[in-house]
Amino acid sequence: MTGPRIAVYPGSFDPIHNGHLDIVERCRPLFDQVIVAVLLNDEKPPLFTVEERVEMISEMTSSHPECRVESFSGLLVDFMDEVGASIIVRGLRAVSDFEYEFQMALMNKRLNQRVETVFMAPREEYSYLSSGLAKEVFFLGGDLKGLVPARVLEKMEAKRVDRE
Ligand code: PNS
Repeated sequence: MTGPRIAVYPGSFDPIHNGHLDIVERCRPLFDQVIVAVLLNDEKPPLFTVEERVEMISEMTSSHPECRVESFSGLLVDFMDEVGASIIVRGLRAVSDFEYEFQMALMNKRLNQRVETVFMAPREEYSYLSSGLAKEVFFLGGDLKGLVPARVLEKMEAKRVDRE
């Protein structure tokens, strides 16, 4: 492989949590550029709009010159071509993630031979954390300190107020 090593870390990030940020942090020494790619998905109503998610993640990675945040729609492999990236980074938390991730990695490879998927294990303390679970716990009044950045919690609080 020649040229800069550009990795794309794709996901819904609704919202971003500390497990995601930990992966971004650990990607930084491995790649020349890390693009956090937020999926614009019309199917399920999100808590945060894509613009809000991109803004939050940009804020959280603003001190990292090698990171940038973009949104994408359509096929991930097409987005990879657009930005000249060949590495997809995905966090692999548990055996339960494996089947879905395995299917996606193989399908993406079939769609675009240039693309390689790299799986990263989460830090142990985030191994059970997902955006879905974080939202559920938050709206039921549970404490997410240490799991979700304070800034994101503030924004979630504002959503709670809006809903009331
Ligand atoms: O955070 P998520 O929801 O697990 O992320 C899933 C994501 C965004 C990586 C996946 O849904 C995706 O790549 N969607 C883009 C559409 C696409 O390329 N689908 C075929 C994947 S094999």
